[in-house]
Amino acid sequence: MSEPTPKRRTIRSFVRRAGRATPSQERALQEEWGRFGVEFNEEILDLDQIFGRKAERVLEVGFGNGVSLVAAALDYPQMDFVGVDVHEPGAGHCLLRAKEANIGNLRVIIHDAMEVMQHQLASASLSRINLLFADPWPKKRHHKRRIVNPPFLDLAEDKLAIGGALHVATDWENYAEHIDEVMLTRANFRLDERREHHGDQPLDRHTTKFETRGLRRGHRIWDWRFIRQ
Ligand SMILES: C[S@@+](CC[C@H](N)C(=O)[O-])C[C@H]1O[C@@H](n2cnc3c(N)ncnc32)[C@H](O)[C@@H]1O
Repeated sequence: MSEPTPKRRTIRSFVRRAGRATPSQERALQEEWGRFGVEFNEEILDLDQIFGRKAERVLEVGFGNGVSLVAAALDYPQMDFVGVDVHEPGAGHCLLRAKEANIGNLRVIIHDAMEVMQHQLASASLSRINLLFADPWPKKRHHKRRIVNPPFLDLAEDKLAIGGALHVATDWENYAEHIDEVMLTRANFRLDERREHHGDQPLDRHTTKFETRGLRRGHRIWDWRFIRQ
């Protein structure tokens, strides 16, 4: 009898974190999901129908607790925001903030952003993608989990309209070096701006929870804006 071929495991940029939603986050997930939540499935979303209008659209990959995402949606009421994260308590927090802010231009998907981009978002449908303080995966053997890698960049390239922007930020020096290196190989992304700072010069974005944590630990911050060309 031949040996069964081992199944190839997909390399993901996250591990499901332990930690339960608080009662208020849990309630927000139940009560506000109908208003702000979008289910994952393998069909292209009709964003004009979901938001009830035509508008420029921003995707935030790994929004964490959603505080900076809700702040951005408040700053730009003329744009629509789609936040994707796998962490339910964070999504609950985001929904609480969205409810308080009473915004109509935000939707949340709780799923792997790679699959959401692959299946649910149409080509050239976005004017901006935010990837803020993605997990740095500091150990060398984990570098393959870093989301800033060709599979994600291929999807970002496809989903952004020409002239759209990919915003990336990190507080991890070795990840910053990796981002500089990988992005040099991407002919369809032009570096528009790069900042290295101490939390005082965020590039057209709000300060995030993980940024604040990094700053407390004495980290520097790197911000990039790449334009899809
Ligand atoms: C280090 S946290 C940063 C959160 C937030 N952007 C901030 O700066 O506070 C990274 C977040 O990305 C999420 N994440 C990682 N890989 C993801 C993926 N493939 N799809 C969706 N979310 C992902 C994690 O669940 C986590 O909430």
